Amino acid sequence: MLNLLQRFSDAFLKDINLGVLLIDMDYRLADISDRACQMLAMEKEHIRNKSLDEIFATVPSQHQLVQRTILNGAIVRNHAVSWTNNQERFDLLLDSNVLKDSQGNIVGAYIIFKDVTNMRSLEQMVQRSDRLAMIGQIAAGTAHEIRNPLTSIKGFLQMLRRTFGDRGMDKEQNFTDVMLGEIDRINALVNEFLMLSKPKHVAYERIGVTEVLRGIVPVIQNEAILYNVQLHYEASTHLPEVTADIELLKQVFLNVCKNGIEAMPDGGILTISERVDTTERNVCVDIHDTGTGIPMFVVDKIFDPFFTTKDTGTGLGLSVCQRIIHDMGGTIRVASKGFGTTFTITIPYM
Ligand SMILES: Nc1ncnc2c1ncn2[C@@H]1O[C@H](COP(=O)(O)OP(=O)(O)OP(=O)(O)O)[C@@H](O)[C@H]1O
Ligand SMILES: [Mg+2]
Repeated sequence: MLNLLQRFSDAFLKDINLGVLLIDMDYRLADISDRACQMLAMEKEHIRNKSLDEIFATVPSQHQLVQRTILNGAIVRNHAVSWTNNQERFDLLLDSNVLKDSQGNIVGAYIIFKDVTNMRSLEQMVQRSDRLAMIGQIAAGTAHEIRNPLTSIKGFLQMLRRTFGDRGMDKEQNFTDVMLGEIDRINALVNEFLMLSKPKHVAYERIGVTEVLRGIVPVIQNEAILYNVQLHYEASTHLPEVTADIELLKQVFLNVCKNGIEAMPDGGILTISERVDTTERNVCVDIHDTGTGIPMFVVDKIFDPFFTTKDTGTGLGLSVCQRIIHDMGGTIRVASKGFGTTFTITIPYM
């Protein structure tokens, strides 16, 4: 009987698609499932019988998978944690409990966790599109109301500017220049707002992604020079055509490239490369920067409207991009491994 149980537990730890950690009373790792090793990106031989304090020494306390209190009998059910190894990020759902001997004394504890990354991202996608739809409605209504008065303010300011010019009032003319500049900024913001609502004049046509990128490389180049950034554009020959709106697609690439450049205040390399994924039938564009990277606790939020870490950012850039790409049936994904960031934009082709 014991033999069978032993075999089962061996097979369980080896084959089961779950993370399992077995912990002894000295808070050492007694055993671990193969899948857990994969998710933690650690090797069984290196961590077995080591103290969990040692194994997770570099992980901030709020992201620990295990707390010492587990041995006091704290039961955990469906605790959601995110975990990032060197390669991948996981959303985990975690249960734990103590193991007792026949007298009821605690002799150890176990933790079981499941990788729910796909489920989580689906759920987040639904939430996000709900929120975007709501913001879109509000934005569309408000934006028009803001634009109209702006147009007349701008018109009168331009008249004033001319008058000041005619009378040689240079200082006043400079002031109006500043005001006009600020009005342009508000206008640009309002336009972005409008983009969040369902765009009304989208013109889908068959286009080549390479041509779109070629068209905007000079603009990106200009921005790159300001930041001392080198731009590498790796075009791919014979990309299949996609169905998209050129202007919107340009906007996506510009936004993502601008973010990449802004992430490299001390210079770096921005690489734009094209490829085809023939299995999924997508044209993919990877935009990689050698910048600061995105901390794992921030990654979840970057597509949210108004999320920004920049003093002068609106936080609308990526949410607009996501909306546009989403409407084309594509995806926009991010991978950031501490140093540097890659955004991958995929657009389906027929
Ligand atoms: N390549 C990147 N490297 C590091 N962080 C990034 C990168 N791209 C985006 N981010 C993070 O995502 C946040 C949101 O980006 P988003 O483009 O939506 O807004 P923003 O750039 O802050 O403002 P705006 O686009 O209006 O100038 C940024 O503030 C930044 O923290
Ligand atoms: Mg941006």
